[in-house]
Amino acid sequence: MKEHAAQRPRILIVDDNAGLVDNLAEILEEAGYAVQGAASCAAALPLAREGFDVALVDLRLPDGDGTALAPRLKDLSPDGEVVLLTGFATLESAVAAVRAGACAYLVKPCATRELLVTVEQAMRQVRLHAEKRELARKAQMAEKLAAVGTMTAGLSHEIRNPLNAAVLQLSVLERRLQRLPAEAQGALLEPLTLVKDEIRRLDHILEDFLQFARPREFVPRPVAVGSVVARVLDLLEGEAERRRLTVVRAVDPEGALPPVAGDEERLRQVLVNLTLNALEATPDGGTIRVACFGEPPAPERPGEPGRVGISIEDSGPGIGAGLRDRIFEPFFTTKAKGSGLGLSIVHAIVAQHGGTISIEDGDGGGARFVLRLPRAR
Ligand SMILES: Nc1ncnc2c1ncn2[C@@H]1O[C@H](COP(=O)(O)OP(=O)(O)OP(=O)(O)O)[C@@H](O)[C@H]1O
Ligand SMILES: [Mg+2]
Repeated sequence: MKEHAAQRPRILIVDDNAGLVDNLAEILEEAGYAVQGAASCAAALPLAREGFDVALVDLRLPDGDGTALAPRLKDLSPDGEVVLLTGFATLESAVAAVRAGACAYLVKPCATRELLVTVEQAMRQVRLHAEKRELARKAQMAEKLAAVGTMTAGLSHEIRNPLNAAVLQLSVLERRLQRLPAEAQGALLEPLTLVKDEIRRLDHILEDFLQFARPREFVPRPVAVGSVVARVLDLLEGEAERRRLTVVRAVDPEGALPPVAGDEERLRQVLVNLTLNALEATPDGGTIRVACFGEPPAPERPGEPGRVGISIEDSGPGIGAGLRDRIFEPFFTTKAKGSGLGLSIVHAIVAQHGGTISIEDGDGGGARFVLRLPRAR
């Protein structure tokens, strides 16, 4: 219910005529909008701070002027649009509307059809703003990822050279040690083996970084998501137990879901990163829920093969609206020992699959990450 309300376009009506507000609210709610009313500038500002899509603002308010209020509302909700309400259709009202940065004005009392058409036109503007911002964000992210890629590739390469030289010298040392009497060898060979193991570990880390910077070619194949999810959850079961967390699975590993078109190893990486984040965010005694579901093709794209969704929900603190844009950025982390690469890798892999990832509020206030991946044809 709450979620449904959150997805409806939000209308803010600022007018001190309570009867009119009720009347407009009724028409707009019936048309699928979520409506809030305010009788003054002072009452409108805190509501605008929570965000709105379209504000209908009376020109004359008890504590101020609608034309002065409009730009302040737009500052608080930059993607929103303002429509001014006026008693008379005069040239002055039209000029005032333009000056105030409003996208239109309505003359009271307005006919239902005119109201709905004007609000729908304003909504079209609002959607354009959101699309523009999303495009700019994607471009910025791609730029950052490219910069990270170039930097990590260069750095990994530079580190590998001295590392290879060190390994070479270690084998020289090892051979010389092996020529010593047997009783002298043990105490010297042991630290040498340790150093070799540590270098091998470093080399693995560098390999991961290079993989991130220069991903392998993507060749999608049918992947049974249910069984990948089940294997990831089996793998992380011990970690969940150590943290005293319950993992609830609504996953059918037997393959009742259609396969997706993807790269199994990379999808495993996505699920490991998301599940680890959920485990790390959830305090002792909490719950992680993982579910898979099928989705038919969208009605506007009937030729498409439909999607398979996976949701991972935790009972941790959730992710505030202010952080949601940032957590996919490379190196963004709030953890003392996090690299902040987890979600940027997830994002890159999901995009490569032609899928989407979204963050929702979980039912218990935690975070819910929802992946949607295209089905194999
Ligand atoms: N389920 C979640 N609940 C709350 N916050 C989350 C959740 N998942 C991610 N975050 C936030 O997003 C940030 C970035 O996550 P990301 O996986 O990219 O990096 P990390 O987990 O910090 O480090 P790494 O994954 O490299 O160990 C986290 O530091 C955390 O603040
Ligand atoms: Mg992580």
